[in-house]
Amino acid sequence: MRNDLGGHPATEPDSGHVAEPVRSFLQDVVDGLALSPAQLSPKYFYDEAGSRLFDHICELPEYYPTRTEMSILERSGPAIAARLGRDTLVIEPGSGSSTKVGLLLEHLEAPAGYVPVEISGEHMHTSLAPLRERFRQLPIHPVCADFTEPFGVPAGVPGHSGAVIFFPGSTIGNFPPDDAVHLLGRFRRLLDEHGGLLLGVDRRKDPEVLKAAYNDAAGVTAEFNLNLLRRMQRELDAVLDPDGFRHRAVWNDTESRIEMHLVSQGRQSITVGGREFRFHDGDPIVTEYSYKYSDNGIRDVAARAGFEITDGWTDERCWFSVLYLTPATG
Ligand code: AVI
Repeated sequence: MRNDLGGHPATEPDSGHVAEPVRSFLQDVVDGLALSPAQLSPKYFYDEAGSRLFDHICELPEYYPTRTEMSILERSGPAIAARLGRDTLVIEPGSGSSTKVGLLLEHLEAPAGYVPVEISGEHMHTSLAPLRERFRQLPIHPVCADFTEPFGVPAGVPGHSGAVIFFPGSTIGNFPPDDAVHLLGRFRRLLDEHGGLLLGVDRRKDPEVLKAAYNDAAGVTAEFNLNLLRRMQRELDAVLDPDGFRHRAVWNDTESRIEMHLVSQGRQSITVGGREFRFHDGDPIVTEYSYKYSDNGIRDVAARAGFEITDGWTDERCWFSVLYLTPATG
């Protein structure tokens, strides 16, 4: 069975600065619930409420990835900037609130520009204001697009040769390895031979640390997970009972991933898009995979996408890595 949790592009990259999502929320929900076990794509977590909950998750004591990656960018910012060189155009797929890129831009020498790529135009507009204020000389070229679908850099943006794609946050971990290869392969094709990819990767570690990070004591991750059902009610008029499902996050060591599920409490059904989907007690809906990489694991994904890892920075516990990938030669 092909796993679509990370989203799959349907066609090759196009150009232009606005890309329409190829598939709709409704279509993805109906197709996903028809699978066994049922699946919902994690890309739909991030409506306004979900984005707020995710920001909250990033502040939780158990959720180490955000603060660990930020500490790497803070401490190794000058070394990373030196590796990237001057006049760099920074492209950030899924830029969200554009907070981490500031840690990079502040060390870069005369960056050629910044291209945030974000699905929500409104969110992007608001979150770019502090960046514009802070980096007044920096040309910013926003692209409103879903980065899991093909997108391009607007024609005429200078500095495209030698551009660097900045993909932090271990978002790559939300894509099953084959889909991660596919996504990084598309990133590769946006770059020329002088370009590179600065990638945030969460690493394998003590499962207890991982389980705690996705089962926080305050229940914010549970709310984040359940918000997907609430979003279906709000936007798709889905008939369902969010209280009839329970958040669960488990570590799958063989697949090297955290799996988030919504587990049915008793028999019930979800009706959406004119279809009814039945659940027995204990049936899961798989909502997210979060892969944790070994050195070999990420090297393999990079190589299959046409990259080689040339540099890397980590924290003192080696929990997270910021890696620099360049197009493979030969
Ligand atoms: C966005 N992504 C990298 C997060 C992760 O850790 O996989 C999403 C998340 N899910 C639960 N907590 C955070």
